[in-house]
Amino acid sequence: MAILVTGGTGYIGSHTVVDLLDNGYDVIIVDNFSNSKPEVLNRIYTITNRRPKFYRADVSDYEAMAEIFEKEYIEAVIHFAGLKSVAESVEKPELYFDNNVGSSKVLLKLMEIHRVSNLVFSSSATVYGVPQHVPLKEDDQVGGCTNPYGQTKLDIEYLLKDFAKAHPEANIAILRYFNPIGAHQSGLIGEDPNGIPNNLMPYITQVAIGKRPHLNVYGSDYKTIDGTGVRDYIHVVDLARGHLCALKKLEEKPGLVIYNLGTGKGTSVLQLVHAFEQANNIKIPYVICERRPGDIDENYAEVSKAYEQLGFKTKYDIVDACRDSWRWQSNNPNGYDQY
Ligand code: NAD
Ligand code: WQD
Repeated sequence: MAILVTGGTGYIGSHTVVDLLDNGYDVIIVDNFSNSKPEVLNRIYTITNRRPKFYRADVSDYEAMAEIFEKEYIEAVIHFAGLKSVAESVEKPELYFDNNVGSSKVLLKLMEIHRVSNLVFSSSATVYGVPQHVPLKEDDQVGGCTNPYGQTKLDIEYLLKDFAKAHPEANIAILRYFNPIGAHQSGLIGEDPNGIPNNLMPYITQVAIGKRPHLNVYGSDYKTIDGTGVRDYIHVVDLARGHLCALKKLEEKPGLVIYNLGTGKGTSVLQLVHAFEQANNIKIPYVICERRPGDIDENYAEVSKAYEQLGFKTKYDIVDACRDSWRWQSNNPNGYDQY
């Protein structure tokens, strides 16, 4: 019996695969390398001394996925595969819909045929749209997504809810991630964005390594502690462990369940910059710019449901994450592309 991990060579997927292997699970990864590199597989082996099975395939390709489901004995699926760039989704909404919703439909169909009833899905705090209040609770209103990427996550959540209603035997954990940052403590795996990073932490680390002259801080007139945007930054190693907690929960056959995975604490852009400077003793020059369209003042998670029902509690704080992100970036100045 193995866990099928789609998107398992990506940022969050690779950290989760490491935790799964370290905890004795057998893992089968499916990834098309649209946003990751084969080198990740060697790094996973170096860290864990175990090699997961790997298939290079597109999860939205029904025939390719059907072959994998025929060959393998799959106990549960963790579905990370998806495109995640907000900006790109605005330019290419159909691509995002086909890839993200399309791959989820293929998985559900094959899970139905092969009677695989356990699924963990990577959703996002983006489904809450513009928050009415913080902290955000799982039963708060969703919708009003400000971009097609976010809309695909919400569409998939609805698809999963309908699937669960039609299949009472299905157990599905929807995990709404807040803002993952950090890297594995080994410095061997981490976030490796293509081109100019969209997200804050990889931008900071690229400034630190000298690839970019300064950080652009998108707005200083938000209704927050210092005027810059506030988010809930969760260490990716903690986030990975949340998936193992969710798999355990599914053994109790709970039907469909939804959990926020965050720390419950908000941090502003400037607070994160200062934490990075302190943790690593590196100055991060920054320039205050216009707001980025679609950004919100603040969001952070209400985390008591995940704690009470999954036993999930974060171990690492933003200083740990800043230190680990920098270890990854400084050991791998060009990400996985150094060979
Ligand atoms: P990532 O891009 O690093 O990983 C996604 C992986 O999926 C990549 O390896 C990519 O090659 C693969 N992939 C994409 N489409 C595929 C397809 N059709 N078939 C096969 N492989 C495919 O992203 P990540 O940060 O690790 O995010 C993982 C999941 O979590 C995504 O679904 C993302 O939307 C979601 N999420 C991420 C964040 C974040 O800030 N990183 C926040 C909330 C939710
Ligand atoms: C964080 C803060 C920016 C970059 C996005 C997606 C969300 C989820 C996580 C997948 C904001 C500010 C950023 C920079 C900056 N992904 N910032 N300069 O926007 O909270 O969430 O990633 O599901 O769906 O929308 O994360 O890291 O882009 O931004 O000032 O160069 O940093 O304005 O306040 P965000 P982020």
